[in-house]
Amino acid sequence: MADQFDLTIIGSGPGGYVCAIRAAQLGMKVAVVEKWPTLGGTCLNIGCIPSKALLHASELFEEAGHGFKALGIDIPAPQLNLPQMMNHKTETVASNVGGVDYLFKKNKIAVFRGIGSIAAPGRVLVTPQSGPQTEISTKNIVIATGSVSANLPGIDIDEKTVVTSTGGISLDKVPNKLVVIGAGVIGLELGSVWQRLGSQVTVVEYLDRILPGMDSEVARQFQRMLQKQGMEFKLSSKVAGVDKQDDGALKVRVEPAKGGDAELLDANVVLVAIGRKPFTEGLGLDLAGVALDERGRVRVDAHYKSSVDGIYAIGDVIAGPMLAHKAEDEGIAVAEILSGQAGHVNYAAIPSVVYTNPEVASVGKTEDELKAEGVEYKIGKFPFTANGRAKAMLATQGFVKILADVQTDRVLGAHIVGKNAGEMIHELVTLMEFSGASEDLARTTHAHPTLSEAIREAALALGDGAIHI
Ligand code: FAD
Ligand code: NAI
Repeated sequence: MADQFDLTIIGSGPGGYVCAIRAAQLGMKVAVVEKWPTLGGTCLNIGCIPSKALLHASELFEEAGHGFKALGIDIPAPQLNLPQMMNHKTETVASNVGGVDYLFKKNKIAVFRGIGSIAAPGRVLVTPQSGPQTEISTKNIVIATGSVSANLPGIDIDEKTVVTSTGGISLDKVPNKLVVIGAGVIGLELGSVWQRLGSQVTVVEYLDRILPGMDSEVARQFQRMLQKQGMEFKLSSKVAGVDKQDDGALKVRVEPAKGGDAELLDANVVLVAIGRKPFTEGLGLDLAGVALDERGRVRVDAHYKSSVDGIYAIGDVIAGPMLAHKAEDEGIAVAEILSGQAGHVNYAAIPSVVYTNPEVASVGKTEDELKAEGVEYKIGKFPFTANGRAKAMLATQGFVKILADVQTDRVLGAHIVGKNAGEMIHELVTLMEFSGASEDLARTTHAHPTLSEAIREAALALGDGAIHI
């Protein structure tokens, strides 16, 4: 039997590791159980961080090949060194997961390696790959076991030619033809990576639009931008099967979503990116009596408590957007709640970013949601074509769209398509955290020349009018 702990967290992803650090800062004795050899979960090992390393490198490769000439930089066509690009990704991951090791040591957090399961409230069993089981005695338990890729029935993932995002960030050569199933965030981000490096990318999407959940005007315009880059889309379509030929090439059977004749697409690699599902296997939740909802997520109350006292859950394994920063904020909130503070997450102001070029960033309500809810709203828009800095950077694609309440002028949602949109969205997140009005933003001085001026102009457009259009 190991020591008695105040808190034991199962899973060391952004939810679990951030929860552990905050709990330790608040004076708790904390243990974390992790089955993988490195800390940091999906996000740091096979998700956010490696994908962003590849997105950055491939964007510069594309720019060096096609964007420099107009700026007066003549260079020979850049040569791709894929092994080195993958090294950059691996080193970025190593440096980030090493950072979590360091933070755990600094905060005296005990790490138990192995699969964690809940024997009963207050008792966690750790089963390592080899060697004896350990039992942890603990006042409280937080389940932070995250999510795994969903798969389509009848499609065998080998992570070499038929891949999830995990194989999709580790291909050893650029596929000539890449078929992506699912026009969600993973499909468009990883589709962009391989397209920039030379693949012909076709995205097959079940719905009649890309990026479900995002503002539909934004999604429509963004789709056009991706098409201009050469990405092809087959919307309202489903993949009925993937057949492997003797030479290793793939034939993808695509049918209209409503049924009808199949079309065959050639591919060297197929990326399955149709969403992720909560991961609770092996936790022993049945025995512990922890209830799941209809989608297999741990059911929690407003304080992240499951159906069993002393057992809590956060991150991808509970309801809500599957985003690292949402998991982190829930980790902080539950640590605060367990130490008697008023931990809280404002779900109305969680930003979401697609790290393509241009980026798509959004916070709060979409126009579609406001329409459906019958809210009276007004729209302020400003295009980057009218922004001086964007012109200087040859980055005039995209626009800012702000939605505000007609009566109160309070900002209800904001959507940006454009270079650095993922950085710029935060002034709108902060404004919404303070329940700000568009006039607050319109009267705030923005440095010139910056891309952020487009945000102020969109806010001005909600009042007496934008200046530069
Ligand atoms: P996870 O990060 O999934 O961590 C769960 C951990 O629990 C894992 O380490 C796992 O090994 C461990 N575990 C599970 N079961 C057990 C057990 N029984 N015992 C011990 N350990 C266990 N989100 C963003 O916000 N921005 C992005 O740019 C972004 N990019 C992404 C790119 C990709 C390719 C993918 C796949 C995801 C991306 N995400 C992104 C989503 C993000 O990774 C998740 O939302 C986030 O990791 C969820 O954190 P979590 O702590 O809930 O779980
Ligand atoms: P997703 O939910 O974003 O998109 C899945 C897409 O697949 C949807 O458009 C859906 O309609 C489509 N689809 C579902 N079944 C299909 C089928 N049978 N045939 C064709 N299309 C089908 O899921 P994705 O891209 O797999 O990402 C998983 C999660 O990871 C997301 O929830 C996202 O939040 C998170 N993530 C976040 C990132 C970010 O914040 N930048 C980056 C990558 C992932």
